[in-house]
Amino acid sequence: MAIKRIIPISSGKGGVGKTTFAINFSLALSRHGKTVLVDLDTGTSAIRNAIDVPVGKDLYHFFRKGASLNECVTPLDDKLDPQRQFRNFGFVAGPMHLIEEITNFGASHKARLIEAINTLDADYVILDMRAGLDSNVIDFLPFSNSGILIFTPHLPSATLAASDIVKAILFRKLRLIFTKDSPFFSTIADRIDYWRLINDLIDRVEDVYDSSVQNLDAFATDLAENLGDHPITRTVQQTIDEFRVHYVLNLFNGVEDSFNTAVRPFVENLTKNVSAHCGVTNLGWITRSDAIHRANCNKLPAILLPHNVKKEKRDRASQELDDLRVSIGLEPTRKAAPVKARGIAAKSDEQVDPLTRQLDVLKTMFEQKKNDDYFANFDYASQRALFTMKTRRPSEFGDIRIYTPNEMLKTIFAKSNVPTAVDWEELE
Ligand SMILES: Nc1ncnc2c1ncn2[C@@H]1O[C@H](COP(=O)(O)OP(=O)(O)OP(=O)(O)O)[C@@H](O)[C@H]1O
Ligand SMILES: [Mg+2]
Repeated sequence: MAIKRIIPISSGKGGVGKTTFAINFSLALSRHGKTVLVDLDTGTSAIRNAIDVPVGKDLYHFFRKGASLNECVTPLDDKLDPQRQFRNFGFVAGPMHLIEEITNFGASHKARLIEAINTLDADYVILDMRAGLDSNVIDFLPFSNSGILIFTPHLPSATLAASDIVKAILFRKLRLIFTKDSPFFSTIADRIDYWRLINDLIDRVEDVYDSSVQNLDAFATDLAENLGDHPITRTVQQTIDEFRVHYVLNLFNGVEDSFNTAVRPFVENLTKNVSAHCGVTNLGWITRSDAIHRANCNKLPAILLPHNVKKEKRDRASQELDDLRVSIGLEPTRKAAPVKARGIAAKSDEQVDPLTRQLDVLKTMFEQKKNDDYFANFDYASQRALFTMKTRRPSEFGDIRIYTPNEMLKTIFAKSNVPTAVDWEELE
């Protein structure tokens, strides 16, 4: 089996189109590899309600009847997929009724499901998340990245809440580095007070009502001032720098409006309250379409509806050129400034400010894609996701597993090149 990539679909608030996107995006991806969509919004049965196909086994059978997760994957049938174009797609439905222990997973249920997702037989696993930020959402997100966030210009508060998700993921990782039993502690064991102070600093950055340390960049600067060029300083800076946010605009209504009501507030909020150094990548948009909504109501994913392919003939070279333009606009080379100089270099090492970059990308995409229908939108988002998985590290997008805290800490520590040997058995 090829290496599997896991992509959670989340949003700050409900009703922005996560499930709609997750279903149609998974179907589009399945043309490129075996794709399984897992319903993690287990209280609502949203996915089984949107796909009119009989479900044999679901999460109830996984949790209560000893079925493996692979056995709980439901494929489409001939009625929904007469031309058998989506034979590589399957979904794991949530339980039919509300079952408390499955709706609100306890720790052991969660661990079982995460392990099963990690060993699921698929090339791509898409997770349809519950809205919001409780531990049922956060614990299923890989520590490394936020999957795909769905924004919509129609619900600005959801966009702001989306930057809280990024913040929560980053803080979860940072807190791991600075736990009591962290191997990093041995690198400053002579300064127990400072260890406490670091944790206090993290509390203050996370506390939105405390403005004494504004964001993670201020926190990193503080560390650099106190510890200098130290494994901890480098690890924190790297954690922030390597974090990438990927988003899709749903209910897209033109460049200006989307930019002003979704992209701009998101990037500004992220810069102000989290960091100016996380990369932000636009993976495309989905237009508002009555056909999409009607398809949902008819339990037929929109992408399965017949449509006339009015593909303009484009040669491979011009397609590649477009990809390149978009990818350059999205992902400028970011030269990391030396840690000590970060405070001063923060502004000058980004030649174009992130907002101008986002607007340029949106305009470029729009110029190329303005006549696209929603079929093409989903196709484009899946192409961009595949392109990103090919060109970026799994830790930046589509990680290969959902790590346990201890696994994550091990990985971070191994990367930090601290020469001390740490006995992991002791930490288990
Ligand atoms: N691009 C679109 N065009 C038209 N209608 C859409 C589009 N995307 C979503 N909708 C409609 O918006 C509503 C919410 O969509 P959906 O259920 O996918 O959102 P969600 O984020 O999964 O919600 P929840 O937080 O409740 O899980 C649905 O009625 C859906 O049909
Ligand atoms: Mg949903």
